[in-house]
Amino acid sequence: NDKRSGFPRGFYWGGAIAANQAEGAYLEGGKLPSTADIKSQGFFGGLRRDADFYPTHKAIDFYHRYRQDLKLFQEANFNIFRTSINWARIFPTGEEKEPNENGLQFYEDLFREAKSDGITIMITISHYETPLALVDKYGGWDNRAFIDFYLRFVRTIVTRYKGLVKFWLTFNEIGNAAVVPICWDAACIDPKSDHLLQRMYQAAHHQFVASALATKIIHEIDPDAKAGAMIAYKTVYPYTCKVEDVKAAEDAKRKEYFFSDVQARGYYPSYIRRYFEENNIHVAMERGDEEIIRQHRVDFISFSYYRSRVVSAGYEEPAEKTTDSLEGLVNPYLPKTDWGWTIDPDGLRLALNDLYDRYQMPLFVVENGLGAKDIVEKDGSINDTYRIEYLSAHMKAMKEAIADGVDLRGYTMWGPIDIVSNGTGQMSKRYGIIYVDLDDYGKGTGKRIKKKSFDWYREVIASNGENL
Ligand code: BG6
Repeated sequence: NDKRSGFPRGFYWGGAIAANQAEGAYLEGGKLPSTADIKSQGFFGGLRRDADFYPTHKAIDFYHRYRQDLKLFQEANFNIFRTSINWARIFPTGEEKEPNENGLQFYEDLFREAKSDGITIMITISHYETPLALVDKYGGWDNRAFIDFYLRFVRTIVTRYKGLVKFWLTFNEIGNAAVVPICWDAACIDPKSDHLLQRMYQAAHHQFVASALATKIIHEIDPDAKAGAMIAYKTVYPYTCKVEDVKAAEDAKRKEYFFSDVQARGYYPSYIRRYFEENNIHVAMERGDEEIIRQHRVDFISFSYYRSRVVSAGYEEPAEKTTDSLEGLVNPYLPKTDWGWTIDPDGLRLALNDLYDRYQMPLFVVENGLGAKDIVEKDGSINDTYRIEYLSAHMKAMKEAIADGVDLRGYTMWGPIDIVSNGTGQMSKRYGIIYVDLDDYGKGTGKRIKKKSFDWYREVIASNGENL
């Protein structure tokens, strides 16, 4: 470790986005709609094919403006950038025998540009943007047919971008395949389906097999690249020290860990059997599936961390909460964001320690940040000190975790440039250190403006985390 800053030398610092939340150009270059393109107000707004406005269709036009945006990332000293490859750009219906060259070229240009800016690329292979035509024809990931379509996509992009992509994440927040209402994003399961849990866990199984085979493909084609799991981590606390609450919290934790347990250890953990039995879930496996999962484990664990949550014995999963919260009960000791998300930097330290104790694998924080409303002052400045405070506190927590002995390799803040919110579809839920002049209806100039946090983050990176 770097003695002064406490972060390892060569630590990765940067930002993360997803293609559908940033690129726009949703029918350009041969692309067809993806599952993200029928969400008119994020996943909380449900799926609608007749809405007047869909925020992903234009998003922030990263598709046309990425060169300029990458320059800003370079100016902020980023040495890593995480984005996703929109599957429907490469296989517009998901079923083509040949990939769409136009889409492949777009990402090649983007990656080459980043490389020439000194920025390493991390790719989420599937980030909530499955070709809609596939879903219309085959349903969701509980249909085994998805494995082959996905692997065709994986083989194509890993071959094409060999040497250009260093880290591959097989599925964004894979555990959300079993969370309402995000199961649509993660596994193309309509939250209104019958036998929802059965469908969600069957889908998860197919994603485990697909992820393991993707890992195999990555290792074979590009031995220098690494394959990672990507889970949504919310540190869980019991509501009281009543044993029932503690047990409920343990159960909730296991439901989150189930996914990384399978991907990192290579087998279904014993505890899940009882949960399956009690919920009448019967996961159909084919011969060889377990062997595939055992043989091709991930190289590292990455995760998103925004908040912690509180669980009591009365709490039911999956949490069918309607508005701003998927996190269970209110924690009276912690503040919240304007969108009701608990702010808990110490929870990140606990998360890092827990994950490292459990897997002894390199870790990567690939999403973290504050969704907030920003105000552009008369002089054009944006004084987002609240964001600096949030990010700084979480970085200090990472530093503590590293001092605790955790092998943490990097940090990509979420949405370094303002993008469309996945949950709500809003532009006004901003995460960026770079402001984008667009409102919730896509109106505005699209102009990029550096916020106060821009200079702050640039300095954090320049000092490798010494000046937080
Ligand atoms: C993560 C997703 O769950 O949270 C991102 O991977 C998403 O796609 C991020 O944008 C923040 O959530 P939201 O709803 O504020 O955009």
